[in-house]
Amino acid sequence: MLERTNGHGQAPREVEAEVLRRYAHGAKKREAALCCPAKSRYEKDLLKKLPKEIVEKDYGCGDPSRWVNAGDTVVDLGSGSGKACYILAQKVGRKGRVTGVDFNPAMLELARKYQRPLAKRFGFRNVEFKRARIQDLALDLERAEAWLAEHPASNLDGWNAFEAECERLRQEAPAVPDDFADVVVSNCVLNLVQPRDKERLFGELFRVLKKGGRAVISDVVCDEEPTAATLADPELWSGCIAGAFREEKFLQMFEAAGFHGIEILERQEQPWQVVDGVEYRSMTVRAFKGKQGPCYECLQAVVYRGPFSHVFDDDGHRYPRGVRMAVCEKTFGLLTDPHGPYAGQFIGIEPHTPVAVAHAYDCSGDRVRDPRETKGRDFKETREGEAPACCSGPGSKCC
Ligand SMILES: C[S@@+](CC[C@H](N)C(=O)[O-])C[C@H]1O[C@@H](n2cnc3c(N)ncnc32)[C@H](O)[C@@H]1O
Repeated sequence: MLERTNGHGQAPREVEAEVLRRYAHGAKKREAALCCPAKSRYEKDLLKKLPKEIVEKDYGCGDPSRWVNAGDTVVDLGSGSGKACYILAQKVGRKGRVTGVDFNPAMLELARKYQRPLAKRFGFRNVEFKRARIQDLALDLERAEAWLAEHPASNLDGWNAFEAECERLRQEAPAVPDDFADVVVSNCVLNLVQPRDKERLFGELFRVLKKGGRAVISDVVCDEEPTAATLADPELWSGCIAGAFREEKFLQMFEAAGFHGIEILERQEQPWQVVDGVEYRSMTVRAFKGKQGPCYECLQAVVYRGPFSHVFDDDGHRYPRGVRMAVCEKTFGLLTDPHGPYAGQFIGIEPHTPVAVAHAYDCSGDRVRDPRETKGRDFKETREGEAPACCSGPGSKCC
C-alpha cells in the first residue's frame, strides 16, 4: 500500500514507481481499465497498417495526431506502445520526423519491436524512441543507466559523480534538445506526473518546441478538485484519475509556461468516470510558443472583427471590436498569421509607406493607431479621378 496523502493535494511519494509498475504490466497484457481509449477516434487508414499488439495497448484519451501536418517534427510525450508515433509517422511523411519519449522500458521494448517492419511498410524510417522522464526531457535515461552500470555508486562520492554525469548528458547529449519540435503531442500522460514536477513539465514542453511551434495535448481533466480519498488511492493515480488537472488549471499551466493562443480543441461531453461526485473527462488543448522577443514599431494596426465587444490577449492587451489598435511588428505577425491561432479574427493594417528603420516599441498599455500614422505625414487628400499623393506612377503599390 502506498503512503497516504497529507490531505493538501500531495501525491504519495511512490507515484512514479506505481506508474512504472502498472504500465510495464500494461505493455505485456492489455489492461481495460487504463484510461478511456476508443479506436474509432483515430484515422482508420493510418491505423490499419499497425500491428494488433500495438493498437490494442491503447491507453490514450484523445487523438492529438489529428492536428499534425506533413513535414512536421513531432515529439510524443509518454509514447507507450508507439501507436500514436506510427500514426504520426505516416502523417508527417518522409520529410517529417517523430520522437516518442517514455520512461518505461517495457513500453519502449514493445514500441521498438515494430520500428523496422513498419519502416519497411511505410517506405521510410522516421521514428525513434527515447527513454526519458517527460518532466526532464534533456536527460537520456538509457545513457545515464549505461554510465551507472560502468561506474556503480555505493557512496555519496559515487552519487555525486553520477549527478555530474547526468548534468553533462543534459547539456551535451540531450534526449530532446531545445527548439527541436514543430509539435509536441501527448495522449493521457501529463496527469501521471507528480504534482511537484508539473510546473517543470510545462517548462520542458516549452523548451523543446521551436518558436512558432505548438503543443497539442489530450489529457484527463476534472470539474472539481479530486477528493482526499481519490488522492490517496494508488490505483487512481496510475489510472489517470487522481493526477487529473482541474479543467481551468490545465489551461493556466500553458499560460504560466509562456504559451499563447491557448485553445480547447475538444472536450468530451459525457464524463469518462465520476469518482466521489467529481467528473473526469478528456480534453484536448492546443497552445503556441512564440510571443516572446523584442517589440518594434512599424506603424501597424489590427482591428478585431468581433463578434464580442472586445477581447484581451494573454498579456492583457485589449482589442475593442472595430477599433484600429496599434501593435508592434511581432504582435501584428502573430494576430494576422493565417495559420496561427487567431486566424480570421483580426484585420491587419499596414502603413502606406513601410518603416525604413524600426525603433523599439513600448508594448505596455493599449493605444489606438491614428489613421494619420498609417497614411504617413505627407499624405494628401485626393479627389475622385486624382491619383493619391503617394502614387509614383503606374505599378506603384498604393495606386
Ligand atoms: C496512459 S499511458 C498512455 C500511452 C500512450 N500515450 C497511448 O495513448 O496509448 C501513459 C504512458 O506514459 C508513460 N509515462 C508515465 N509517466 C511518465 C513520465 N513521467 N515520463 C515518461 N513517461 C511516462 C507510461 O509509461 C505509459 O507508457
